[in-house]
Amino acid sequence: MIKLISLISMIIFFFSASYVQANENKEDRGNMLVAYFSWSGNTRNIAKEIHSLVGGDIFEIEPVKAYSSDYNTCLDEAKREQQAQARPALKTHVTDMTKYDVIFLGYPNWWASIPMPIASFLEEYDLSGKTIIPFSSHGGGRLGQSVSAIAKLSPQSKILEALSVHYSGGRSLRNDISVWLKKIGITEK
Ligand SMILES: Cc1cc2nc3c(=O)[nH]c(=O)nc-3n(C[C@H](O)[C@H](O)[C@H](O)COP(=O)(O)O)c2cc1C
Repeated sequence: MIKLISLISMIIFFFSASYVQANENKEDRGNMLVAYFSWSGNTRNIAKEIHSLVGGDIFEIEPVKAYSSDYNTCLDEAKREQQAQARPALKTHVTDMTKYDVIFLGYPNWWASIPMPIASFLEEYDLSGKTIIPFSSHGGGRLGQSVSAIAKLSPQSKILEALSVHYSGGRSLRNDISVWLKKIGITEK
């Protein structure tokens, strides 16, 4: 009987300890934002995977004027904006950026750099002292110049090692994200 009682107590202790741990982890992540821009959905899907692993809030950066759904027209629009270093107006805004310390920032590689709505986003908020973690979907050019472009626009932020994903990332996406999150110290080893 005594053995049974101590076994039950041990089980109760184990489950309450894991409950407390899970909730502590959740609270720790309240300071994280996963913000992304995506044209054809790959970055959006990567953002959702990251968000499902780290928690916090997720936010889509959307320009007021949507890019053409035609690939070649979009290529031209994006090239023109990059050459002009345009700052397209944004339709969506983060209500209270002060509550976030860590911002995952996702975008497709466009012309070997960031799409210009990312520049508009970075200039809209005071991100000094915050940590930015870039992630990018690409068609072969990996991160291109995108991380240095972000560093130039946010010189007062700490920038952690970025993740580049080939198009959708395929079947290994979730695992690749998990390995990267551990490497940069966001989740435990
Ligand atoms: C306007 C535009 C420019 C692009 N430029 C590049 C590039 O320079 N290098 C590259 O590897 N992929 C380039 N791509 C391919 C995208 O990075 C790739 O398709 C990505 O998966 C798209 O992500 P999304 O679905 O989140 O929009 C370009 C795509 C578009 C539409």
